[in-house]
Amino acid sequence: MGFEDFFHLKLDPFSNVPDPRFFFSSYEHKLAIVKILYTIDKMRGLSLLVGDVGTGKTTVSRKLLLIINKNPNFKAGLIVLTNNSFKLEWFLGRVAKFLNIDEDYENYEEIKGAIVSKLISYYKDNKKVVLVIDEANNLKERDDIIEEIRGFLNYELGNRKLMNFVLIGTREILPYIKRNESFYQRIAMKLQLKPLSLTSTKEYIKYRLKIAGADVNIFTDDALNIIHEASKGVPRLINIICDNALLDAALQKKLPIDGNMVKDISKLYSIESEI
Ligand SMILES: Nc1ncnc2c1ncn2[C@@H]1O[C@H](COP(=O)(O)OP(=O)(O)O)[C@@H](O)[C@H]1O
Ligand SMILES: [Mg+2]
Repeated sequence: MGFEDFFHLKLDPFSNVPDPRFFFSSYEHKLAIVKILYTIDKMRGLSLLVGDVGTGKTTVSRKLLLIINKNPNFKAGLIVLTNNSFKLEWFLGRVAKFLNIDEDYENYEEIKGAIVSKLISYYKDNKKVVLVIDEANNLKERDDIIEEIRGFLNYELGNRKLMNFVLIGTREILPYIKRNESFYQRIAMKLQLKPLSLTSTKEYIKYRLKIAGADVNIFTDDALNIIHEASKGVPRLINIICDNALLDAALQKKLPIDGNMVKDISKLYSIESEI
């Protein structure tokens, strides 16, 4: 049984799935998007966005792609690295597929050749090519892939890169890219996605409630302060705490949700929680 009826909700307000309808343009997320857009519009080559787990990196990447894909001047795609044991051929195959190269190639030289000539044809069509790599922390111990991306960044025509990369992941990636100094130096935009401030956290919660069709004042200000303190402004944790608080309130038929009601839940799901 859900709590939707009790709160008269049209949608589930704090579900942890990337749903563009719930995208909240917080200062922190907006800044990251604007800066990455600037870098790819200028075809600077390489941007890096790092942030702790749950801060909204994947959400930012999806929003970024939605924006870019509306613009006919761009050709944009996404690769999500779910582990670090993939083959170089798999990676190049994904790049080729993203560039709409249909043929299968036998060897490394052939596939690279096909990718480069496709990049040149996109350049001639005035298309800016952007590849977003999410979970780029899975490039750890993958000097071969990092070197491959560096190779792509060397391709330039008319003073601009033929291909842009946006690497998104946790800080785990840093030591691995730093040890390839010439790769590291090519990063034109380095960004850190910070957790939400107290003000942004409050706006974020109210925004999600509003989109779901709820009264934005379900939580007292005291409750919002406690949620921010426990979650440290990490959206994934904010969602879990709010979700549990809504369920408790519906079961107890108690409104508004005050500080006392969220205290115990916040302890259980806080960053410092012991279980
Ligand atoms: N700007 C935002 N607007 C709405 N929801 C967000 C936002 N940022 C994060 N979230 C929520 O937090 C959850 C975790 O975000 P996610 O992008 O998966 O984090 P990360 O990739 O950094 O681990 C998402 O499922 C989403 O529900
Ligand atoms: Mg993610």
